[in-house]
Amino acid sequence: MLKRVKLLLVAYLLTLTITCAQKIMKLDFDPSSYQTKTLTLNEKTFKVRAYEKIIYMEKPVDTAYQVMNIYIPEEYFNGKSIGTYTAENAPIFFPNQIGGYMPAKPASTEMQVMGMRPPSNGQEQQIRLGHQRPPESTGPRRNTVLEALSRGYVVASAGARGRTNGDGKAPAGIVDLKAAIRYLKFNDKKIPGDAGKIISNGTSAGGAMSALLGATGNHPDYEMYLKALGAANAKDNIFAVSSYCPITNLDHADIAYEWQFYGIHSYKRRDPFANDQSPQNLSAEQIAISKDLKEAFPTYLNSLQLKDRQGKILTLDGNGDGNFKELVKSYVVASAQIALNSGKDLSAHQWITIKGGRVIDLDWNNYIVYMERQKTPPAFDALDESTGENQLFGTATSDKLHFTKYGQLHSSIAGSTIADQKIIKMMNPMYYITDPKTQPAAHWRIRHGSKDKDTGLAISVMLSTLLENKGYDVNLELPWDVPHSGDYDLNELFEWMDSIVQRKAK
Ligand code: DHB
Repeated sequence: MLKRVKLLLVAYLLTLTITCAQKIMKLDFDPSSYQTKTLTLNEKTFKVRAYEKIIYMEKPVDTAYQVMNIYIPEEYFNGKSIGTYTAENAPIFFPNQIGGYMPAKPASTEMQVMGMRPPSNGQEQQIRLGHQRPPESTGPRRNTVLEALSRGYVVASAGARGRTNGDGKAPAGIVDLKAAIRYLKFNDKKIPGDAGKIISNGTSAGGAMSALLGATGNHPDYEMYLKALGAANAKDNIFAVSSYCPITNLDHADIAYEWQFYGIHSYKRRDPFANDQSPQNLSAEQIAISKDLKEAFPTYLNSLQLKDRQGKILTLDGNGDGNFKELVKSYVVASAQIALNSGKDLSAHQWITIKGGRVIDLDWNNYIVYMERQKTPPAFDALDESTGENQLFGTATSDKLHFTKYGQLHSSIAGSTIADQKIIKMMNPMYYITDPKTQPAAHWRIRHGSKDKDTGLAISVMLSTLLENKGYDVNLELPWDVPHSGDYDLNELFEWMDSIVQRKAK
Protein backbone atom coordinates (compact mmCIF):
# COMPACT_ATOMS: atom_id res chain seq x y z
CA MET A 1 0.00 0.00 0.00
CA LEU A 2 2.73 2.39 1.09
CA LYS A 3 4.70 1.41 -2.00
CA ARG A 4 1.71 2.31 -4.16
CA VAL A 5 1.34 5.69 -2.54
CA LYS A 6 5.07 6.29 -3.02
CA LEU A 7 4.84 5.27 -6.65
CA LEU A 8 1.88 7.54 -7.22
CA LEU A 9 3.71 10.40 -5.53
CA VAL A 10 6.77 9.87 -7.74
CA ALA A 11 4.56 9.75 -10.85
CA TYR A 12 2.81 12.94 -9.74
CA LEU A 13 6.08 14.74 -9.09
CA LEU A 14 7.43 13.58 -12.42
CA THR A 15 4.38 14.90 -14.27
CA LEU A 16 4.66 18.17 -12.36
CA THR A 17 8.31 18.50 -13.29
CA ILE A 18 7.63 17.76 -16.96
CA THR A 19 4.75 20.27 -17.06
CA CYS A 20 6.93 22.93 -15.46
CA ALA A 21 9.78 22.13 -17.82
CA GLN A 22 7.43 22.42 -20.79
CA LYS A 23 6.14 25.74 -19.54
CA ILE A 24 9.63 27.15 -19.24
CA MET A 25 10.51 25.70 -22.62
CA LYS A 26 7.66 27.48 -24.34
CA LEU A 27 8.64 30.89 -23.05
CA ASP A 28 12.33 30.36 -23.64
CA PHE A 29 13.73 32.47 -26.46
CA ASP A 30 15.44 30.21 -29.00
CA PRO A 31 18.49 32.08 -30.34
CA SER A 32 18.94 29.60 -33.18
CA SER A 33 15.52 30.14 -34.74
CA TYR A 34 16.13 33.12 -37.02
CA GLN A 35 16.43 34.28 -40.57
CA THR A 36 19.19 36.65 -41.62
CA LYS A 37 17.89 39.73 -43.39
CA THR A 38 19.93 42.20 -45.35
CA LEU A 39 18.33 45.61 -45.10
CA THR A 40 19.00 48.91 -46.80
CA LEU A 41 18.28 52.35 -45.43
CA ASN A 42 19.62 55.61 -46.80
CA GLU A 43 21.98 53.65 -49.07
CA LYS A 44 23.46 51.91 -46.04
CA THR A 45 23.20 48.11 -46.03
CA PHE A 46 23.18 46.14 -42.81
CA LYS A 47 22.32 42.66 -41.56
CA VAL A 48 19.96 41.67 -38.80
CA ARG A 49 18.74 38.42 -37.32
CA ALA A 50 14.95 38.28 -37.61
CA TYR A 51 13.00 36.28 -35.04
CA GLU A 52 9.46 36.60 -36.29
CA LYS A 53 6.05 35.54 -35.01
CA ILE A 54 7.21 34.47 -31.57
CA ILE A 55 4.25 33.55 -29.40
CA TYR A 56 5.01 35.49 -26.25
CA MET A 57 2.77 33.74 -23.74
CA GLU A 58 2.04 30.16 -22.75
CA LYS A 59 -1.69 30.23 -23.33
CA PRO A 60 -2.43 32.51 -26.28
CA VAL A 61 -6.03 32.94 -27.40
CA ASP A 62 -5.33 34.50 -30.80
CA THR A 63 -2.02 33.68 -32.43
CA ALA A 64 -2.82 35.92 -35.39
CA TYR A 65 -2.06 38.84 -33.07
CA GLN A 66 -0.34 37.61 -29.91
CA VAL A 67 2.99 37.32 -31.69
CA MET A 68 6.15 39.36 -31.51
CA ASN A 69 8.87 40.17 -34.04
CA ILE A 70 12.35 40.67 -32.65
CA TYR A 71 15.14 42.08 -34.83
CA ILE A 72 18.74 42.17 -33.67
CA PRO A 73 21.69 43.75 -35.48
CA GLU A 74 24.13 41.03 -36.60
CA GLU A 75 26.99 42.94 -34.91
CA TYR A 76 25.67 41.90 -31.50
CA PHE A 77 26.37 38.25 -32.28
CA ASN A 78 29.99 38.98 -33.22
CA GLY A 79 31.07 41.00 -30.23
CA LYS A 80 30.87 44.22 -32.22
CA SER A 81 29.26 47.52 -31.34
CA ILE A 82 27.15 50.09 -33.17
CA GLY A 83 28.20 53.50 -31.92
CA THR A 84 28.21 53.12 -28.16
CA TYR A 85 25.72 50.25 -28.20
CA THR A 86 26.69 46.62 -27.65
CA ALA A 87 24.87 43.32 -27.10
CA GLU A 88 24.89 44.16 -23.39
CA ASN A 89 23.72 47.74 -23.37
CA ALA A 90 21.68 48.32 -26.55
CA PRO A 91 18.23 49.72 -25.75
CA ILE A 92 15.17 47.81 -26.96
CA PHE A 93 12.77 49.82 -29.10
CA PHE A 94 9.22 48.54 -28.66
CA PRO A 95 6.92 50.07 -31.30
CA ASN A 96 3.30 48.99 -31.59
CA GLN A 97 1.11 49.34 -34.64
CA ILE A 98 -2.17 49.73 -32.81
CA GLY A 99 -4.60 52.12 -34.49
CA GLY A 100 -8.24 52.79 -33.72
CA TYR A 101 -8.04 50.30 -30.83
CA MET A 102 -8.18 47.60 -33.50
CA PRO A 103 -6.26 44.31 -33.43
CA ALA A 104 -2.71 44.96 -34.59
CA LYS A 105 0.07 42.89 -36.13
CA PRO A 106 3.61 43.41 -34.95
CA ALA A 107 5.73 45.89 -36.89
CA SER A 108 8.23 44.35 -39.29
CA THR A 109 11.22 45.30 -41.39
CA GLU A 110 9.08 45.23 -44.51
CA MET A 111 8.20 48.67 -45.84
CA GLN A 112 4.64 49.38 -44.80
CA VAL A 113 2.25 50.42 -47.53
CA MET A 114 -0.40 53.07 -47.51
CA GLY A 115 -3.07 51.46 -45.42
CA MET A 116 -6.73 51.87 -44.74
CA ARG A 117 -7.38 52.18 -41.10
CA PRO A 118 -10.69 51.01 -39.75
CA PRO A 119 -13.17 53.69 -38.80
CA SER A 120 -13.03 54.89 -35.23
CA ASN A 121 -15.99 57.19 -35.39
CA GLY A 122 -17.96 55.91 -38.33
CA GLN A 123 -15.52 57.35 -40.84
CA GLU A 124 -12.67 55.77 -42.75
CA GLN A 125 -9.17 56.98 -42.06
CA GLN A 126 -6.28 56.87 -44.42
CA ILE A 127 -3.06 56.53 -42.54
CA ARG A 128 0.14 54.75 -43.37
CA LEU A 129 0.37 51.93 -40.95
CA GLY A 130 3.45 51.78 -38.80
CA HIS A 131 4.82 55.16 -39.75
CA GLN A 132 1.88 57.43 -39.95
CA ARG A 133 2.30 60.71 -41.68
CA PRO A 134 -0.30 63.25 -42.51
CA PRO A 135 -2.05 62.08 -45.71
CA GLU A 136 -1.14 65.35 -47.40
CA SER A 137 2.52 64.95 -46.51
CA THR A 138 4.97 64.50 -49.33
CA GLY A 139 7.89 63.65 -47.06
CA PRO A 140 9.90 60.50 -47.51
CA ARG A 141 8.28 57.27 -46.36
CA ARG A 142 10.37 55.79 -43.64
CA ASN A 143 10.23 52.60 -41.75
CA THR A 144 10.67 53.25 -38.06
CA VAL A 145 11.92 49.70 -37.47
CA LEU A 146 14.75 50.10 -39.99
CA GLU A 147 15.64 53.50 -38.56
CA ALA A 148 15.95 51.99 -35.09
CA LEU A 149 18.02 49.00 -36.26
CA SER A 150 20.40 51.16 -38.27
CA ARG A 151 21.07 53.17 -35.09
CA GLY A 152 21.93 50.05 -33.11
CA TYR A 153 18.65 49.48 -31.32
CA VAL A 154 17.25 46.01 -30.83
CA VAL A 155 13.64 46.13 -32.04
CA ALA A 156 10.85 44.11 -30.50
CA SER A 157 7.32 44.71 -31.72
CA ALA A 158 4.31 42.87 -30.34
CA GLY A 159 0.96 42.39 -32.02
CA ALA A 160 -2.05 42.76 -29.77
CA ARG A 161 -5.74 41.95 -29.76
CA GLY A 162 -8.26 44.70 -30.41
CA ARG A 163 -11.85 45.75 -30.11
CA THR A 164 -13.35 43.84 -33.03
CA ASN A 165 -12.52 40.47 -31.51
CA GLY A 166 -14.77 39.17 -28.73
CA ASP A 167 -11.68 38.43 -26.67
CA GLY A 168 -9.92 41.64 -27.73
CA LYS A 169 -11.99 44.18 -25.81
CA ALA A 170 -10.43 46.24 -23.02
CA PRO A 171 -8.15 45.44 -21.32
CA ALA A 172 -6.89 42.77 -23.78
CA GLY A 173 -4.57 45.02 -25.82
CA ILE A 174 -2.63 46.34 -22.83
CA VAL A 175 -2.47 42.90 -21.25
CA ASP A 176 -0.91 41.59 -24.47
CA LEU A 177 1.71 44.34 -24.55
CA LYS A 178 2.56 43.67 -20.91
CA ALA A 179 2.90 39.94 -21.61
CA ALA A 180 5.34 40.81 -24.42
CA ILE A 181 7.39 42.99 -22.05
CA ARG A 182 7.47 40.13 -19.53
CA TYR A 183 8.74 37.81 -22.27
CA LEU A 184 11.56 40.23 -23.09
CA LYS A 185 12.54 40.60 -19.44
CA PHE A 186 12.26 36.86 -18.80
CA ASN A 187 14.65 36.24 -21.70
CA ASP A 188 16.93 39.21 -21.05
CA LYS A 189 20.06 37.04 -20.79
CA LYS A 190 19.33 35.27 -24.06
CA ILE A 191 18.27 38.25 -26.17
CA PRO A 192 20.95 40.83 -27.01
CA GLY A 193 19.94 44.25 -25.73
CA ASP A 194 19.07 45.52 -22.27
CA ALA A 195 15.52 44.75 -21.10
CA GLY A 196 16.04 47.42 -18.46
CA LYS A 197 15.97 49.95 -21.30
CA ILE A 198 12.76 49.18 -23.17
CA ILE A 199 11.35 52.22 -24.96
CA SER A 200 7.78 51.94 -26.17
CA ASN A 201 6.37 53.86 -29.16
CA GLY A 202 2.93 54.25 -30.70
CA THR A 203 0.53 56.64 -32.37
CA SER A 204 -3.03 57.59 -31.51
CA ALA A 205 -4.69 54.52 -29.93
CA GLY A 206 -1.16 53.05 -30.14
CA GLY A 207 0.17 56.19 -28.44
CA ALA A 208 -2.42 55.70 -25.73
CA MET A 209 -1.32 52.10 -25.27
CA SER A 210 2.32 53.17 -25.18
CA ALA A 211 1.50 55.66 -22.40
CA LEU A 212 -0.63 53.11 -20.55
CA LEU A 213 2.19 50.58 -20.70
CA GLY A 214 4.55 53.17 -19.22
CA ALA A 215 2.10 54.29 -16.53
CA THR A 216 1.10 50.88 -15.21
CA GLY A 217 4.42 49.04 -14.76
CA ASN A 218 4.00 45.97 -12.52
CA HIS A 219 0.59 47.11 -11.25
CA PRO A 220 -1.32 44.19 -9.71
CA ASP A 221 -4.62 45.11 -11.46
CA TYR A 222 -3.43 43.31 -14.59
CA GLU A 223 -2.02 40.25 -12.86
CA MET A 224 -5.10 38.06 -13.13
CA TYR A 225 -5.28 38.64 -16.89
CA LEU A 226 -1.58 38.01 -17.38
CA LYS A 227 -1.80 34.80 -15.39
CA ALA A 228 -4.71 33.59 -17.53
CA LEU A 229 -2.56 34.07 -20.64
CA GLY A 230 0.40 32.29 -19.08
CA ALA A 231 2.61 35.37 -19.32
CA ALA A 232 6.24 34.89 -18.32
CA ASN A 233 7.09 35.24 -14.68
CA ALA A 234 8.84 38.61 -14.93
CA LYS A 235 8.18 42.31 -14.42
CA ASP A 236 6.49 44.53 -17.00
CA ASN A 237 7.71 48.03 -16.18
CA ILE A 238 9.50 49.87 -18.96
CA PHE A 239 12.22 52.51 -19.16
CA ALA A 240 10.63 55.12 -21.40
CA VAL A 241 7.55 56.09 -23.40
CA SER A 242 7.23 57.74 -26.76
CA SER A 243 3.62 58.60 -27.47
CA TYR A 244 2.22 60.42 -30.49
CA CYS A 245 -1.24 61.98 -30.10
CA PRO A 246 -2.44 59.57 -27.43
CA ILE A 247 -6.21 59.00 -27.59
CA THR A 248 -6.24 58.39 -23.87
CA ASN A 249 -8.04 59.32 -20.64
CA LEU A 250 -11.12 58.13 -22.52
CA ASP A 251 -13.51 58.53 -19.60
CA HIS A 252 -12.75 62.29 -19.55
CA ALA A 253 -12.04 62.83 -23.25
CA ASP A 254 -15.60 63.98 -24.04
CA ILE A 255 -15.49 66.82 -21.54
CA ALA A 256 -11.95 67.82 -22.59
CA TYR A 257 -13.10 67.91 -26.23
CA GLU A 258 -16.03 70.21 -25.48
CA TRP A 259 -13.93 72.43 -23.23
CA GLN A 260 -11.93 73.07 -26.39
CA PHE A 261 -14.60 73.05 -29.10
CA TYR A 262 -17.70 74.40 -27.35
CA GLY A 263 -19.03 77.21 -29.54
CA ILE A 264 -17.83 75.60 -32.77
CA HIS A 265 -21.11 74.49 -34.29
CA SER A 266 -19.86 72.92 -37.48
CA TYR A 267 -17.59 69.94 -37.92
CA LYS A 268 -15.60 68.15 -40.61
CA ARG A 269 -14.97 64.48 -40.14
CA ARG A 270 -11.49 63.26 -41.10
CA ASP A 271 -12.32 61.41 -44.28
CA PRO A 272 -9.87 62.01 -47.14
CA PHE A 273 -11.96 59.80 -49.43
CA ALA A 274 -15.24 61.66 -49.05
CA ASN A 275 -16.30 63.60 -52.13
CA ASP A 276 -18.15 66.08 -50.03
CA GLN A 277 -15.67 67.76 -47.70
CA SER A 278 -18.03 70.53 -46.69
CA PRO A 279 -18.68 70.99 -43.00
CA GLN A 280 -21.83 69.75 -41.32
CA ASN A 281 -23.70 71.51 -38.56
CA LEU A 282 -24.32 70.33 -35.03
CA SER A 283 -27.98 69.89 -34.12
CA ALA A 284 -29.56 71.90 -31.32
CA GLU A 285 -29.45 68.76 -29.21
CA GLN A 286 -25.73 68.32 -29.86
CA ILE A 287 -25.08 71.94 -28.94
CA ALA A 288 -26.90 71.34 -25.65
CA ILE A 289 -24.77 68.24 -25.04
CA SER A 290 -21.63 70.23 -25.81
CA LYS A 291 -22.64 72.75 -23.14
CA ASP A 292 -23.25 70.06 -20.52
CA LEU A 293 -19.88 68.47 -21.23
CA LYS A 294 -17.79 71.64 -21.33
CA GLU A 295 -19.32 72.67 -18.00
CA ALA A 296 -18.17 69.39 -16.45
CA PHE A 297 -14.52 69.81 -17.44
CA PRO A 298 -13.35 72.38 -14.85
CA THR A 299 -14.54 70.17 -11.98
CA TYR A 300 -12.48 67.27 -13.32
CA LEU A 301 -9.41 69.40 -14.05
CA ASN A 302 -9.56 71.02 -10.61
CA SER A 303 -9.87 67.62 -8.96
CA LEU A 304 -6.48 66.61 -10.37
CA GLN A 305 -4.69 69.29 -8.32
CA LEU A 306 -2.05 69.69 -11.01
CA LYS A 307 0.70 72.24 -10.46
CA ASP A 308 2.63 74.48 -12.80
CA ARG A 309 6.44 74.58 -12.72
CA GLN A 310 6.36 77.23 -10.03
CA GLY A 311 4.27 74.94 -7.83
CA LYS A 312 1.05 76.90 -8.32
CA ILE A 313 -2.17 74.84 -8.51
CA LEU A 314 -3.67 74.76 -12.01
CA THR A 315 -7.36 75.53 -12.10
CA LEU A 316 -10.25 76.51 -14.34
CA ASP A 317 -13.24 78.61 -13.37
CA GLY A 318 -16.86 77.89 -14.25
CA ASN A 319 -16.35 79.46 -17.70
CA GLY A 320 -13.41 77.19 -18.41
CA ASP A 321 -10.87 79.99 -17.99
CA GLY A 322 -7.85 79.95 -15.72
CA ASN A 323 -4.15 79.19 -15.52
CA PHE A 324 -4.60 75.65 -16.89
CA LYS A 325 -5.90 77.19 -20.13
CA GLU A 326 -2.90 79.53 -20.12
CA LEU A 327 -0.64 76.51 -19.77
CA VAL A 328 -2.21 74.79 -22.80
CA LYS A 329 -1.87 78.05 -24.74
CA SER A 330 1.79 78.31 -23.75
CA TYR A 331 2.50 74.98 -25.47
CA VAL A 332 0.92 76.28 -28.68
CA VAL A 333 2.89 79.53 -28.39
CA ALA A 334 6.10 77.52 -27.94
CA SER A 335 5.21 75.48 -31.01
CA ALA A 336 4.59 78.60 -33.10
CA GLN A 337 7.92 79.99 -31.91
CA ILE A 338 9.77 76.88 -33.10
CA ALA A 339 7.98 77.16 -36.47
CA LEU A 340 8.91 80.83 -36.70
CA ASN A 341 12.53 80.14 -35.80
CA SER A 342 12.71 77.53 -38.54
CA GLY A 343 11.67 80.16 -41.08
CA LYS A 344 7.94 79.40 -41.43
CA ASP A 345 5.73 82.26 -42.49
CA LEU A 346 3.00 82.52 -39.86
CA SER A 347 1.54 85.80 -41.08
CA ALA A 348 -1.63 84.09 -42.36
CA HIS A 349 -2.51 83.19 -38.78
CA GLN A 350 -4.02 86.40 -37.52
CA TRP A 351 -4.61 84.80 -34.13
CA ILE A 352 -0.92 84.75 -33.32
CA THR A 353 0.75 87.89 -32.00
CA ILE A 354 4.38 88.20 -33.06
CA LYS A 355 6.62 91.05 -31.95
CA GLY A 356 10.28 91.34 -32.82
CA GLY A 357 10.52 87.73 -33.88
CA ARG A 358 8.87 86.49 -30.68
CA VAL A 359 5.46 84.83 -30.48
CA ILE A 360 3.99 86.62 -27.49
CA ASP A 361 0.34 85.61 -27.49
CA LEU A 362 -2.42 83.78 -29.27
CA ASP A 363 -6.14 84.34 -29.49
CA TRP A 364 -7.50 81.04 -28.20
CA ASN A 365 -10.97 81.30 -29.80
CA ASN A 366 -9.59 81.98 -33.25
CA TYR A 367 -6.99 79.26 -32.85
CA ILE A 368 -9.85 76.81 -32.23
CA VAL A 369 -11.66 78.11 -35.33
CA TYR A 370 -8.49 77.40 -37.37
CA MET A 371 -8.24 73.94 -35.82
CA GLU A 372 -11.82 73.01 -36.78
CA ARG A 373 -14.04 70.62 -34.88
CA GLN A 374 -13.83 67.04 -36.13
CA LYS A 375 -16.10 65.12 -33.77
CA THR A 376 -19.65 65.55 -32.57
CA PRO A 377 -20.47 65.61 -28.86
CA PRO A 378 -19.95 63.35 -27.02
CA ALA A 379 -16.85 62.72 -29.12
CA PHE A 380 -15.92 59.36 -27.59
CA ASP A 381 -18.77 57.85 -25.60
CA ALA A 382 -21.41 58.38 -28.29
CA LEU A 383 -25.00 58.27 -27.09
CA ASP A 384 -25.80 55.73 -29.81
CA GLU A 385 -22.69 53.69 -28.93
CA SER A 386 -21.33 54.19 -32.45
CA THR A 387 -17.66 54.90 -31.75
CA GLY A 388 -14.67 52.61 -31.72
CA GLU A 389 -14.26 53.43 -28.04
CA ASN A 390 -17.77 52.12 -27.31
CA GLN A 391 -16.70 48.88 -28.94
CA LEU A 392 -13.41 48.86 -27.02
CA PHE A 393 -15.34 48.84 -23.75
CA GLY A 394 -17.80 46.17 -24.90
CA THR A 395 -17.69 42.58 -23.76
CA ALA A 396 -17.84 39.23 -25.52
CA THR A 397 -21.62 39.36 -25.10
CA SER A 398 -22.35 43.11 -25.53
CA ASP A 399 -20.28 44.38 -28.43
CA LYS A 400 -20.57 48.04 -27.40
CA LEU A 401 -20.98 49.75 -24.05
CA HIS A 402 -20.90 53.20 -22.51
CA PHE A 403 -17.94 54.19 -20.38
CA THR A 404 -19.08 57.52 -18.92
CA LYS A 405 -21.99 58.20 -16.61
CA TYR A 406 -23.14 60.96 -18.97
CA GLY A 407 -23.18 58.56 -21.92
CA GLN A 408 -25.18 55.99 -20.05
CA LEU A 409 -27.61 58.51 -18.58
CA HIS A 410 -28.37 60.08 -21.96
CA SER A 411 -28.05 56.94 -24.06
CA SER A 412 -30.28 56.47 -27.07
CA ILE A 413 -29.87 52.72 -26.77
CA ALA A 414 -32.61 51.01 -24.80
CA GLY A 415 -31.32 49.13 -21.76
CA SER A 416 -27.75 50.31 -22.33
CA THR A 417 -25.20 49.71 -19.60
CA ILE A 418 -21.85 51.08 -18.60
CA ALA A 419 -18.59 49.09 -18.70
CA ASP A 420 -17.06 47.72 -15.50
CA GLN A 421 -15.38 50.60 -13.62
CA LYS A 422 -12.29 48.49 -13.01
CA ILE A 423 -11.83 47.97 -16.76
CA ILE A 424 -12.39 51.67 -17.49
CA LYS A 425 -9.69 52.40 -14.92
CA MET A 426 -7.31 49.84 -16.44
CA MET A 427 -7.35 51.74 -19.76
CA ASN A 428 -6.50 55.12 -18.25
CA PRO A 429 -2.89 55.99 -17.33
CA MET A 430 -4.05 58.95 -15.20
CA TYR A 431 -5.24 56.62 -12.43
CA TYR A 432 -1.94 54.77 -12.17
CA ILE A 433 0.69 57.51 -12.20
CA THR A 434 -0.12 58.45 -8.59
CA ASP A 435 -0.56 54.87 -7.38
CA PRO A 436 2.32 53.66 -5.17
CA LYS A 437 1.79 50.12 -6.47
CA THR A 438 2.97 51.21 -9.93
CA GLN A 439 6.48 51.58 -11.32
CA PRO A 440 5.99 54.13 -14.11
CA ALA A 441 8.55 54.73 -16.85
CA ALA A 442 11.13 57.36 -15.91
CA HIS A 443 11.18 59.16 -19.28
CA TRP A 444 8.34 60.40 -21.46
CA ARG A 445 8.20 62.05 -24.88
CA ILE A 446 4.70 63.11 -25.88
CA ARG A 447 3.77 64.81 -29.14
CA HIS A 448 0.35 66.11 -30.17
CA GLY A 449 0.17 68.15 -33.38
CA SER A 450 -1.12 71.70 -32.97
CA LYS A 451 -3.75 70.88 -35.62
CA ASP A 452 -4.71 67.47 -34.27
CA LYS A 453 -8.37 67.43 -33.27
CA ASP A 454 -8.91 63.72 -32.80
CA THR A 455 -8.81 64.47 -29.09
CA GLY A 456 -8.49 67.63 -27.00
CA LEU A 457 -5.10 69.24 -26.40
CA ALA A 458 -5.85 69.11 -22.67
CA ILE A 459 -5.47 65.32 -22.72
CA SER A 460 -1.73 65.37 -23.44
CA VAL A 461 -1.17 68.45 -21.26
CA MET A 462 -2.89 66.85 -18.23
CA LEU A 463 -0.98 63.60 -18.69
CA SER A 464 2.36 65.39 -19.04
CA THR A 465 1.74 67.73 -16.13
CA LEU A 466 0.72 64.92 -13.81
CA LEU A 467 3.87 63.01 -14.75
CA GLU A 468 6.02 66.08 -14.28
CA ASN A 469 4.42 66.79 -10.90
CA LYS A 470 5.29 63.26 -9.80
CA GLY A 471 8.92 63.84 -10.73
CA TYR A 472 9.14 62.03 -14.06
CA ASP A 473 11.17 63.35 -16.97
CA VAL A 474 8.69 64.68 -19.53
CA ASN A 475 9.19 66.21 -22.95
CA LEU A 476 5.90 67.51 -24.41
CA GLU A 477 5.54 69.51 -27.61
CA LEU A 478 2.60 70.30 -29.89
CA PRO A 479 4.39 70.33 -33.26
CA TRP A 480 3.28 73.19 -35.42
CA ASP A 481 0.36 72.61 -37.83
CA VAL A 482 0.74 68.82 -37.57
CA PRO A 483 -2.52 66.85 -37.86
CA HIS A 484 -3.28 63.46 -36.31
CA SER A 485 -0.18 61.39 -37.09
CA GLY A 486 3.03 59.98 -35.67
CA ASP A 487 6.65 59.05 -36.37
CA TYR A 488 7.08 62.25 -38.40
CA ASP A 489 10.23 63.38 -36.59
CA LEU A 490 12.32 60.23 -36.29
CA ASN A 491 15.67 62.02 -36.09
CA GLU A 492 14.50 63.98 -33.07
CA LEU A 493 12.85 60.90 -31.58
CA PHE A 494 16.03 58.84 -31.77
CA GLU A 495 18.14 61.74 -30.51
CA TRP A 496 15.86 61.90 -27.47
CA MET A 497 16.05 58.14 -27.00
CA ASP A 498 19.86 58.15 -27.21
CA SER A 499 20.02 61.03 -24.72
CA ILE A 500 17.89 59.34 -22.04
CA VAL A 501 19.79 56.07 -22.41
CA GLN A 502 23.09 57.88 -22.04
CA ARG A 503 21.80 59.83 -19.06
CA LYS A 504 21.02 56.52 -17.39
CA ALA A 505 24.46 55.16 -18.13
CA LYS A 506 26.11 58.03 -16.23
C1 DHB B 1 -7.72 56.77 -33.35
C2 DHB B 1 -8.30 57.96 -33.77
C3 DHB B 1 -9.43 58.40 -33.12
O1 DHB B 1 -10.03 59.57 -33.49
C4 DHB B 1 -9.98 57.68 -32.07
O2 DHB B 1 -11.09 58.14 -31.47
C5 DHB B 1 -9.37 56.50 -31.65
C6 DHB B 1 -8.25 56.05 -32.29
C7 DHB B 1 -6.50 56.27 -34.05
O3 DHB B 1 -6.10 56.88 -35.07
O4 DHB B 1 -5.91 55.30 -33.58
